[in-house]
Amino acid sequence: MQTAAGLTTTQAPFIEQAQARGEKFIRQPYELYSEENQETWRALYRRMLPRWEKYANEKFLEGVSNLALDPNAVPRLDDINKFLEPLSGFKAKAVSGYIPAYLFFDCLRTREFPTTITIRDGRTLDYLPEPDIFHDVAGHVPMHTDRQFSDVLVRFGEAARSAAMHAQEITDREERLRTVESIIKGMARFFWFTVEFGLMNRPEGGYCVYGSGLLSSFGEIEHCIESPEVQRFPFQLEWVVNQYFEIDHYQPLLFIVDSFEHLFAEVGRLEEWILAGKLSNLSGGEPAVNETDLQSFLEAVS
Ligand SMILES: [Fe+2]
Repeated sequence: MQTAAGLTTTQAPFIEQAQARGEKFIRQPYELYSEENQETWRALYRRMLPRWEKYANEKFLEGVSNLALDPNAVPRLDDINKFLEPLSGFKAKAVSGYIPAYLFFDCLRTREFPTTITIRDGRTLDYLPEPDIFHDVAGHVPMHTDRQFSDVLVRFGEAARSAAMHAQEITDREERLRTVESIIKGMARFFWFTVEFGLMNRPEGGYCVYGSGLLSSFGEIEHCIESPEVQRFPFQLEWVVNQYFEIDHYQPLLFIVDSFEHLFAEVGRLEEWILAGKLSNLSGGEPAVNETDLQSFLEAVS
């Protein structure tokens, strides 16, 4: 039974119905992908491949090959997981949309990656504010085949858990809310400037891309490396957690790590800083922390 809208982002009745029933985790109804959805995947994949070969880090390229991603068909998550799980224990798990911040990080802790199953409208290949299956499966999941990188994600989930427990110890309600809001902001900024938009030094000089927002953007993957307008600085935790970002244009500022070992160590420092209160009063600005994200942290550990 195929609807005209198929599984197009923001136009999929299957997703709307799941959301109306309050179902966050869903199956991937593969039969609903329309021919147009399949053509969108092919178009996205075809134009991206040469840019991955030029700009992506080698672990990502190995991941694409290890997952046996099909250039010609929207991936089935069950097939992806057959290749992924033996490599790192990670699993892509279909979701109906937005997952509250704590729940998202806690999924990472248990090696599950909340994965969007809709695909963008084929008429707007370049930009969409929401994640889609091309961003999540072609941008994120190949990185999860690497043990070291997957351990970074798990460590991030552990830091979120520490943050929730730390917050519980604050008895004054107002102070607790303020602290949690600031910590979520800092964690979101860290995630943004690494997992989503991170650059890495190449041993032979220059940079490569490991952030999924860059790996899934045909325009920005080139822009972030080639453009003289982009500021690229060595990763510094104190900058990253205090730096606001905007999601609706190419990033003017990116941070560079040396390796995934380096990144793993920085997540450890992030956790230490949370527990030492160093993320409790960060500079304001984006991202805004919504009520659902706040509550998800406050209710996380009971
Ligand atoms: Fe993402």
